[in-house]
Amino acid sequence: MSYPRPTVAAPALPPFDYTVFGGTGDLALRKLLPALYLRDKAGQVAEGSRIIGVSRSPLSRGDFRAKAEQAIRDHVPADERDTALVARFLERLDYVPVNATTDEGWSELAELLNTPPSGREPAVRIFYLATSPSLFGPTCDQLRAFGLAIPDSRVVLEKPIGRDLASAQAINDQVGAVFSEPQIYRIDHYLGKETVQNLLALRFGNSLFEPLWNADHIDHVQITVAETVGVEERGGYYDQSGALRDMVQNHLLQLVCLVGMECPISLAQESVRDEKLKVLRSLKAIGADEIGSCTVRGQYRAGAVAGGAVPGYLDEPGIPSSSGTETFVALKLEIDNWRWAGVPFYLRSGKRLPAKMSEIVIQFRPIRHSIFPQGAGELQANRLIVRLQPDESIRLHLMTKEPGPGGMRLRPAALNLSFAQTFGGRFPDAYERLLMDVVRGNSTLFMRRDEVEAAWQWAEPILDGWAARHEMPKPYIAGTWGPSQSIALIERDGRTWHDDEIPAAAF
Ligand code: BG6
Repeated sequence: MSYPRPTVAAPALPPFDYTVFGGTGDLALRKLLPALYLRDKAGQVAEGSRIIGVSRSPLSRGDFRAKAEQAIRDHVPADERDTALVARFLERLDYVPVNATTDEGWSELAELLNTPPSGREPAVRIFYLATSPSLFGPTCDQLRAFGLAIPDSRVVLEKPIGRDLASAQAINDQVGAVFSEPQIYRIDHYLGKETVQNLLALRFGNSLFEPLWNADHIDHVQITVAETVGVEERGGYYDQSGALRDMVQNHLLQLVCLVGMECPISLAQESVRDEKLKVLRSLKAIGADEIGSCTVRGQYRAGAVAGGAVPGYLDEPGIPSSSGTETFVALKLEIDNWRWAGVPFYLRSGKRLPAKMSEIVIQFRPIRHSIFPQGAGELQANRLIVRLQPDESIRLHLMTKEPGPGGMRLRPAALNLSFAQTFGGRFPDAYERLLMDVVRGNSTLFMRRDEVEAAWQWAEPILDGWAARHEMPKPYIAGTWGPSQSIALIERDGRTWHDDEIPAAAF
């Protein structure tokens, strides 16, 4: 059965001034400007709203509009591009060259922001810092010095927030000296993905799963976030980060939180964030003596992905040939609380894997006693698979009787809820949702300071443990599922990674 989505107009929001620092960078062009255009097209951008690109490049407003137009051509699906609506969107764009660390350009930016279009209603003032985290503090200082950080303005911080606990605290202190916590929106774009939000609906909008959602009934959980891409043009950043900092400390831990958390009192922002924080604080530390058995780091070598040859990590642009940065990580973690005691969560994430695929697998325990005769077929334990991307779906593997008169033969089969088939239409990109949540003033899907710091607190001993061992990451061939040690990590416990249902088209 399909349930077409109702065509209600998106709710109107107040006008805004979105100032995007790093306005000509990869994130702004690939994600932010296309997302703002799509929200404008959906009728969510009030008249008089402005989007102001800021970077050091000496561009004119016309140059910036031309870049934005190209970005929309490159990153918005053809059937969403409408010439008149693109033209209307470009009219909303402005540009000011600003140097975050000197006074250059700041008076011009202040002048522009303090001169709103005539007759406009009061607007929400937002600063989106799509820059290196080292510029977050200096930029906020300048926003204060030039009187731009007014009481109800908001600041959006892109990840990574620091590279360890101390640097995250330093950034949070610097930004916190200018903006109060409710004014700070720390983005983790995974929280804006439709299917990630659906975890809340699945768990707390159904009575079916919650009674089983604990160590009595769940054997283990697997979370895989696999990418086919390499480091692309971001070698400089990536080599300083690696997979643990780039993906696990934020995106994968947020998924762990949504799977592991208790039911919040309501969907109010602090209730949800309080529950996520409890999960982060319950994560069992991986001690120095467990680094070898609970974690695996990998680095890709030349291979083939999607039928095309790709270079190894050390031959990518901007990567030193002796780099010891990991492009793959697998690990086993535990949530040390009443609900989850003894249930391992196996996480893995990597670049240049065979498919782009993010998935959560909840593996239930086997039945406690079988009434079926020998020869009825192997009884497989139930498995719930939440496919976050692509082909968003929820599948429940069940045992069924094979049809026919030949006696009781059992076979696994899946109940499959495909979101595309059920609801149809386009799923908005995570940034569309999150950018408008900032305008709305809703920070439920953003990370609070204590969450970010608790996540670093757990990740830091792993980073320290790796550094102390002085080992190079294990090599894996691009286009495979990571180093063999990551398979051993789970097989040692008598379990296997759930790789059997990757759509052929994804290879
Ligand atoms: C970003 C990481 O946060 O997430 C990138 O910095 C990664 O390295 C990206 O490629 C993955 O996001 P998505 O939405 O494509 O799964």
